[in-house]
Amino acid sequence: MTIQWFPGHMTRARRQIEDKLKLIDIAIELLDARVPMSSRNPMVDDILRGKPRLILLNKADLADPRETERWMAYFTSQGCASIAVDSSTGSRVNEIPVKVREILHEKIQRMLDRGMNPRAMRALIVGIPNVGKSTLTNRLAGRHIAATGDRPGVTKGQQWIKVGSEMELLDTPGILWPKFEDELVGYKLAMTGAIKEQVINIEDVAYFAMRVLADRYWPDMKERFGLEEQPTDLDDNMQIVGLMEEIGRNRGCLISGGRIDLEKVSGIILRELRAGKLGRLTLEAAPPASRS
Ligand code: G4P
Repeated sequence: MTIQWFPGHMTRARRQIEDKLKLIDIAIELLDARVPMSSRNPMVDDILRGKPRLILLNKADLADPRETERWMAYFTSQGCASIAVDSSTGSRVNEIPVKVREILHEKIQRMLDRGMNPRAMRALIVGIPNVGKSTLTNRLAGRHIAATGDRPGVTKGQQWIKVGSEMELLDTPGILWPKFEDELVGYKLAMTGAIKEQVINIEDVAYFAMRVLADRYWPDMKERFGLEEQPTDLDDNMQIVGLMEEIGRNRGCLISGGRIDLEKVSGIILRELRAGKLGRLTLEAAPPASRS
């Protein structure tokens, strides 16, 4: 789903999340492990207003594991716990309730000190479109999906999903917008498939992808597409288009007059990139892990 974000949409999305914050103990912020910065809402700290938070680097199955480690170290240095998960298979998803209780242990302890039986901790998933919110919700719900509505303070239609006995999840996640005014963010999200080609030119995205890949993952790209020489200057238009033409020749993407069909080449590059055929790739490096 691609949403066109206008100021009115952003205000409404923000208000919806703010209303839900009153109901929850913790926000689960979902990011795409391949683009942890670009898949992050630019105002998320402000919107979540100091609510305890767990960051999930989702789609970790498609991301470079060494880079994912660096991103996790970075988030730790920023005082935020994180887990790398794959919601499509459920890998490490079972660590989420454990981590949530770890983060909220003081709150739980306070309940115990007052002689109360600690209730299930309540969580809300937030993230930009296509980052995997529904997939994760379904995973966490598993076969134990149980709606426990009719509670005071719960908006009509809003349901809690039980995740084991110790965590509950609001069934409708909070949808955030990406930092779309930044062109590079747009290209990176388009590379992952989070922004569809209808709203962004496919050849521009593929061109951008070639630059990023030639810089960060040349051996993988060289092998997959049978390329000869690494570009010496990533800002040199001719060299990057030259790579795309080389792929076109290798894959038989020709049009009349022996010209290369760059649109077809672009489709191939992006399809194979998104499907993980070039290996597990992370498109942006983590900042150094030091306290800011
Ligand atoms: P959203 O609610 O945040 O909008 O995202 P959603 O769960 O719909 O997931 C978007 C796409 O990402 C889906 O692909 C889903 O299968 C995929 N996905 C979610 N989590 C993971 C993960 O951990 N690993 C991998 N590899 N894929 C994941 P789709 O159904 O093919 O949809 P489309 O994007 O092709 O339209």
